[in-house]
Amino acid sequence: MKRNKPSLSRAEKELVKAVLGHYKGCGRHDLPWRKTVSPYHIVVSELMLQQTQVPRVIPKYQQFLKTFPTVRRLAQAPLGDVLKEWQGLGYNRRAKFLWQAAQAVVQHHSGVWPITFEGLQTLPGIGTYTAGAVMNFAYNIPLPLIETNIRTVFIYHLFRDGEKISDKELLPIIERTLDVHNPREWNWALMDYGAYLKATIGNLNKQSKTYKKQSNFKESNRYVRGAIIRGLLAGAATEKQLLLRVSDIDIDRVIGQLAALKEEGLVVKAKGKYQLP
Ligand code: ADE
Repeated sequence: MKRNKPSLSRAEKELVKAVLGHYKGCGRHDLPWRKTVSPYHIVVSELMLQQTQVPRVIPKYQQFLKTFPTVRRLAQAPLGDVLKEWQGLGYNRRAKFLWQAAQAVVQHHSGVWPITFEGLQTLPGIGTYTAGAVMNFAYNIPLPLIETNIRTVFIYHLFRDGEKISDKELLPIIERTLDVHNPREWNWALMDYGAYLKATIGNLNKQSKTYKKQSNFKESNRYVRGAIIRGLLAGAATEKQLLLRVSDIDIDRVIGQLAALKEEGLVVKAKGKYQLP
């Protein structure tokens, strides 16, 4: 692979060599979202991968695309159906963003995903990372990508004893080492090597400025929200009925999150009962 600029430091050259060596021997070449260049498929996979481990995403990704094979089919579906397919992936808000993004693509872009980094970011729920992922993985257009596995690679090779390393510090190096002729594979290779480093030497992102300690899952609002959605999948319910269905969770937390879900349009109230939209 040819690089953007030849002026890499010795440590940067070693990083590139290690990434390519790992990819050749142990790259995850069979991941289903690596066999497509469809921006729709890439967006679905990336939103799922932002919150869930690869082995759990694979069947969910395949099932989701079976149910909603095109962006139009997703845009036409009721949100409740989308949430149903999202069950087990957590963060239902992402499912709603995905659904809204699909509607924006159909309504404002004739069903064709934007082809620019900026254009992609005008869509609901598509931020810098996801837009960058689409540019690289769908269009093979080189843009520096930063996510947890990629951070791990750069911190391990270039900032081993560093603390609070910011993405701003990493970005110029990520740009310098980017393979502008084959950004798709280079970023896959970076992710695979980062995932391998994480599995073997632990999470170096503790050295990253963006690192946040995860709170106990049961303490999280995400847990409460997931339980409410699951409770309503069984059918519409009054507040009292719903509280019974999620009786292992503190009442105030359920009521608080129920109000938030209603506010966000993930739950609706009709004839005195809560239900999925
Ligand atoms: N391949 C493409 N995107 C990926 C991601 N976010 N995680 C793992 N593999 C990927």
